[in-house]
Amino acid sequence: MSQPLENRPQQRVRLGVNVDHVATLRQARGTRYPDPVLAASLCELAGADQITVHLREDRRHIQDRDVQILRQTVQVPLNLEMAATPAMLALALQYRPDTVTLVPEKRQERTTEGGLAVAGHEAELRPIIQALKDAGITVSLFIDPSDEQVRASAELRASTIELHTGDYCAALGHLAAEQELSKLRAAAELGHDLGLAVAAGHGLDYRNVGAVARLPWMEELNIGHALVSRAVLVGMERAVREMIAAIHLPAPLGE
Ligand code: PXP
Repeated sequence: MSQPLENRPQQRVRLGVNVDHVATLRQARGTRYPDPVLAASLCELAGADQITVHLREDRRHIQDRDVQILRQTVQVPLNLEMAATPAMLALALQYRPDTVTLVPEKRQERTTEGGLAVAGHEAELRPIIQALKDAGITVSLFIDPSDEQVRASAELRASTIELHTGDYCAALGHLAAEQELSKLRAAAELGHDLGLAVAAGHGLDYRNVGAVARLPWMEELNIGHALVSRAVLVGMERAVREMIAAIHLPAPLGE
């Protein structure tokens, strides 16, 4: 069972910076700049705890070359987001990221919509998870904050669940946001009780990140679009530092 809040060890929430959208800008013109590899180094210098990239099947932003070079240059853990397919598994075993986050993928979508359907797809996911674990790669599952998906993730012996924060970020008004936060809180509690590490991401920005960072058992946040968007205007290092500050801002009175 979960400990009462006051007895819980305080942990520093780690920031994983998703540099996909640096590559989006590059791919828009087919140039060699801006380089997500250079961006990742700047993120590290500014205090990022992890570099995250999503190698999509359509290669719309991150390319194989990026993952290959990042593997050689990144000093902090490298987290590869990918679809749970045999082709992507083969690449993960070749590139050896520290973590693989399995995500759902549809070609037509603008960005990852919804979490991975783990419950009901155990038979397909089990061998992929096992192969990654056998290679010493930590496995994280990007899921919606529901009991069913958390339990299925624990049953498959994933190390981590990354809770999809898209609905919370898109919620209009305080009440709707609170309802979404409650789902995230319950999923984090259950995940922890079942032995899973808890992370979160998708749609987080400088304003909405604090409440998610303060959820129980939260260890890591993966943030891309809002951070890279700010970096275009203020520079990557400042954008990362400001995000770290936003993550660790004290709770407002009454929270
Ligand atoms: N975590 C996962 C699993 C994702 O798929 C994404 C989007 O690629 C993110 C985090 C980052 O989302 P955003 O770009 O909205 O910050």
